[in-house]
Amino acid sequence: MGSKEWRIHNPSGTWRVIVTKELPGDRWLDILTAADCKIEICTSPDVLNSAEIIAAIGAACDGAIGQLTEPWGDELYAALKAAGGSAYSNYAVGFNNVDVEAATRHGIPVGNTPGVLTETTAQMAVALTFAAARRVGEAERFLRDGKYNGWLPTLFMGNLLWRKTLGIIGAGRIGSAYAHMMVEGHKMNLIYYDPHKNDALEKHVARYGKFLKSQDRAPVSCKRAETIEELLRVADCVSIHTILDETTRHLINAERLALMKADAIIVNTSRGPVIDEAALVAHCQKHPDFKAGLDVFEDEPEMKPGLVELDNVVIVPHIASATSWTRQGMATLAASNVAAILQGYPAWQRPDISMFLEGKAPQAAPSIVNAEALGIPIYKD
Ligand code: DGY
Repeated sequence: MGSKEWRIHNPSGTWRVIVTKELPGDRWLDILTAADCKIEICTSPDVLNSAEIIAAIGAACDGAIGQLTEPWGDELYAALKAAGGSAYSNYAVGFNNVDVEAATRHGIPVGNTPGVLTETTAQMAVALTFAAARRVGEAERFLRDGKYNGWLPTLFMGNLLWRKTLGIIGAGRIGSAYAHMMVEGHKMNLIYYDPHKNDALEKHVARYGKFLKSQDRAPVSCKRAETIEELLRVADCVSIHTILDETTRHLINAERLALMKADAIIVNTSRGPVIDEAALVAHCQKHPDFKAGLDVFEDEPEMKPGLVELDNVVIVPHIASATSWTRQGMATLAASNVAAILQGYPAWQRPDISMFLEGKAPQAAPSIVNAEALGIPIYKD
């Protein structure tokens, strides 16, 4: 099993499932136990490397739940397959750490955990937005350092986002939830960039604008930008909600940062490499009124030189989904994915996964990203 400590839950279970980190809550353990699994959990907080995961897979392993910090590619799927494995779930909605093609080649379904991160992650994007806009980190450090000598008219003046323009890059579930919070809460006009038109979001903002007008208040607007450049030029605050793949790596680079307003804010709760972090550091150094709120970093857990010294950047350690409800929900979905595949159940593949979170769940795997490629049947009522 390698040098890390592991604990075993339900030792008499038939299917051997490895879980590379402790997960919150109990429901996930109950689901795997009810599916007759023996669950082996790595209790170390250290990130496991491939050799350690291969050692944990060993000669016989039926399924695995892995983390976004681990490289689930050909090597690991080959080891899992050779050990008789047939199920994998990432403990994350994002799966840029997974080589889905490799998993598919080895015939291994890959699960993820959508639907439970939406509001939680959007909430952190809001928190970072205002922490950056209102200089919360900088002001708190000043206070803790004993530098506060009394109220001043000019102390830590920040940006008022009320009625300004919000730009979102990626208008999927999380981007839309963030847009709702900012547009409704702060009456911001929305501009979004996404390869797909988001009719629901556009209609929602239009209806909300009409409602405001009916209250004799100025309406809000929503526009789909033709290009990222168009959005960057006009937005007072830009929040990134894309996936990470080769089309989005360094989507925000030095040239694009240069298009933004000098006092704009950029927020990233998606994946670090979507921003060229070295370019962002240089931009923030050069433009002290520009601000950034970051939950994710290009080379996690490392940060590019100069980033931590910047007062105009608010940083948190990839915790946007860290509420108990969400993290327990992610555990439930990951366990449900693995348990369902081991039991030969179909894939659920619907946006609403709430029925998996309490009570009697459907006999289905909530979300399998390569279900179609593997010919896994889709659940029917
Ligand atoms: C995810 O799930 O993709 C987040 O980044 C971590 O919760």
